[in-house]
Amino acid sequence: MSKENKISELLGKREKAKLGGGEDRIKSQHKKGKYTARERIEKLLDEGSFEEYDMFMTHRCTDFGLENEHFLGDGVVTGRGTIDGRVVFVFSQDFTVFGGSLSETFAKKICKIMDQAMKVGAPVIGINDSGGARIQEGVNSLAGYAEIFMRNIAASGVVPQISAIFGPCAGGAVYSPALTDFIIMSDKTSYMFVTGPKVTKTVTGEDITTEDLGGATIHASKSGVAHFRVENEDSGLMMIRKLLSYLPQNNLEDPPQTECTDPIDRVEDILNETVPDNPNQPYDIKDIIFNIVDDHEFLEVHQHYAKNIVVGFAKFNGMPCGIVANQPNFLAGVLDIEASRKGARFVRFCDAFNIPIITLVDVPGFLPGSNQEYGGIITNGAKLLFAYGEATVPKITITIRKSYGGAHDVMGCKQLRADINYAWPSAEIAVMGPKGAIEILEGKKLGEIEDPAERNKYMIEKELEYKERFANPYDAAKYGYIDDVIEPRNTRFRIIRALQTLQTKKDTLPPKKHNNLPL
Ligand code: HXC
Repeated sequence: MSKENKISELLGKREKAKLGGGEDRIKSQHKKGKYTARERIEKLLDEGSFEEYDMFMTHRCTDFGLENEHFLGDGVVTGRGTIDGRVVFVFSQDFTVFGGSLSETFAKKICKIMDQAMKVGAPVIGINDSGGARIQEGVNSLAGYAEIFMRNIAASGVVPQISAIFGPCAGGAVYSPALTDFIIMSDKTSYMFVTGPKVTKTVTGEDITTEDLGGATIHASKSGVAHFRVENEDSGLMMIRKLLSYLPQNNLEDPPQTECTDPIDRVEDILNETVPDNPNQPYDIKDIIFNIVDDHEFLEVHQHYAKNIVVGFAKFNGMPCGIVANQPNFLAGVLDIEASRKGARFVRFCDAFNIPIITLVDVPGFLPGSNQEYGGIITNGAKLLFAYGEATVPKITITIRKSYGGAHDVMGCKQLRADINYAWPSAEIAVMGPKGAIEILEGKKLGEIEDPAERNKYMIEKELEYKERFANPYDAAKYGYIDDVIEPRNTRFRIIRALQTLQTKKDTLPPKKHNNLPL
């Protein structure tokens, strides 16, 4: 074959590979409002940066007539490229080839880029759109999944792993995304479940739609499986780029510092007025967050799940940080099972990737009730406590208002090795709220007062006394549990100065195989 022919053979093969399962299946993919595997990669990565691996690989199955059906690339597009100039590895499942189902070859391709991502210390992005295990390949497919799971586990806490779900992701296949750090689901076009509606109906009798069982809305709000629900694939791909802008390439690097044009000493007078005089009146903690971070930009994670705690990324003077904040606007900011799990997962992620944690506290305590106790609020609350205690990244805690009881300890208190603890003058740091405390301390006396008006008057008097004694930041400051009581309007500046000081912080835990986090 002449040189020209060899080159045209190569180009011809490339063109063929790029067509995946063929024009008709591409059309059908577009009809469903979905992009193809390659289109997704093109949109995700910096223009022209994609280098594809293993375009010519094909499956080796000889059952069910597959020996006569080969598609170059075998249903997954893999390779590397850049996002904002930084290297990432990516795989994108191609639904147009055998429904994006996973074969031995398919798994090998994914494992190859994961191995290389680990060697060079770069994030892995997986775009999922697949009918699951390639049925014709039987156990080889299951083994392929397990090879990927093993790499997900090894990479956890070493390089960031992000999963986008833009189509079906069912059965055991859900566990690869579940092992990664973040899951993004596209609204209406994606679903995830271990067992689908048909099997659910057969086994349990429950009649439920795909969307209600495992759609993006359900996972973003009810199960918490999805960290982000996006309107469409374009927003999902943009979300991946945005998310990566806060993350280091790997656990040995610091997160990417960028130039900041927002004045570090920006004074926000409105913050002095934000907390209502009535301690039972709610307000939106996000108003405070937006006012203190660079350019009022906050990337909220798990926005629709466990809204009583807010978590997400922001920058302070160009330094990426994780923010954890109780939300008085939802269930009074109480800690429950879901909020504890959400907070714990986020704190652990930040700690694994050297991202400082800023905690804003306004928490009345843990949610009471048999639902919570039976559901294991003890174990789940302990997760958050554990996460804060083991975290060695810079930790800055600002108590805005309430910080009561066990929840005070959990939310980044001094003894859990928070580095700098500030409080606003509105802070109330105590074992419990005034009403509860007086009911316990004065229960006997109150029982003896027969006249309801007299009883009420006595109660109010005692509550006031308690408030003056405990419901303020100064009792905690007296013992050094709070380093300083700060003016709310200066919060941004105080956080930035604290972060600058803590940039060289070193802290460790005793050597061990691994901890035994209360799972
Ligand atoms: C081989 C598959 C396939 C699979 C789909 N296809 N799933 N081929 N193995 N798992 C093929 C179809 O034959 C079809 O081929 C093409 O992909 C598109 O599929 P359609 O059914 O036409 O598409 P659609 O109507 O959109 O339905 C998509 C679907 C459905 C809901 C995903 O295909 C489906 O239910 N597939 C089977 C899902 C499943 O049970 N998978 C195994 C789960 S167990 P042609 O040639 O017609 O285009 C599992 C275990 C993993 O995954 C364990 C890990 C530990």
